[in-house]
Amino acid sequence: MKNTMDYLTIALPKGKLFSLSADLLAKAGYTAEGLSDKSRKLVIANEEKKIRFIVSKTADVPTYVEYGAADIGVIGKDVLLESGKDVYELLDLGFGRCHLMMAVPKAEKRAKLVDYDHTRVATKFPHIAEQFFNKHGMQMEYIKLNGSIELGPIVGLSESIVDIVETGTTLRENDLEEIAYILDATARLIVNRVSFKLKFDRINQLTEELRKILELEQQAKAGA
Ligand code: PRP
Repeated sequence: MKNTMDYLTIALPKGKLFSLSADLLAKAGYTAEGLSDKSRKLVIANEEKKIRFIVSKTADVPTYVEYGAADIGVIGKDVLLESGKDVYELLDLGFGRCHLMMAVPKAEKRAKLVDYDHTRVATKFPHIAEQFFNKHGMQMEYIKLNGSIELGPIVGLSESIVDIVETGTTLRENDLEEIAYILDATARLIVNRVSFKLKFDRINQLTEELRKILELEQQAKAGA
């Protein structure tokens, strides 16, 4: 194995955030030949710039970063909060904007949130959901699903869901209605605590470059 101290290892999530993250990093010169979430190659290096990319399942990015297998990573705030991992958040990247909410079948909508007390909720985010319902003094049964959460109430697995909404299409197409907002989320740049000390100059430089690129993009959008 290569001496990882020489390299900056970056964990990128497969799926929706991959190309947005890879494109942003490329603008700052951080890229590698063959970098793709479709590739079966899991570690892709740029030897000249001493950068290694890890492409992992979205939910695993905080784990790689917490244990220092990756120095930095890109991950949605929703997944980061749910993971409870001990990492530093360096930058809000602004993209991947969505919100976490509770939704129920329109046809069976109850009058108040507390009318769902002691019912079942299907979710990929049981920790965040539990904090939310605890705050409202509600005790729920959490059913952990790994995808297509909206299916839960449709097939009678649960009375409700806690999930992310981006465009609202999935809710609409499945006759579900949002009844409670939980939190907003965007993609974040995260760093391992030890790497941040040991590789401070490199990581700080990258963070500042990304910050500048994002600011210029914001300004261009505002002026358009
Ligand atoms: C997410 C989420 C919703 C959908 C929301 O699923 O779980 O199902 O996106 O997006 P929309 O508001 O634009 O319709 P994802 O596509 O990540 O797949 P998953 O069902 O496998 O979790």
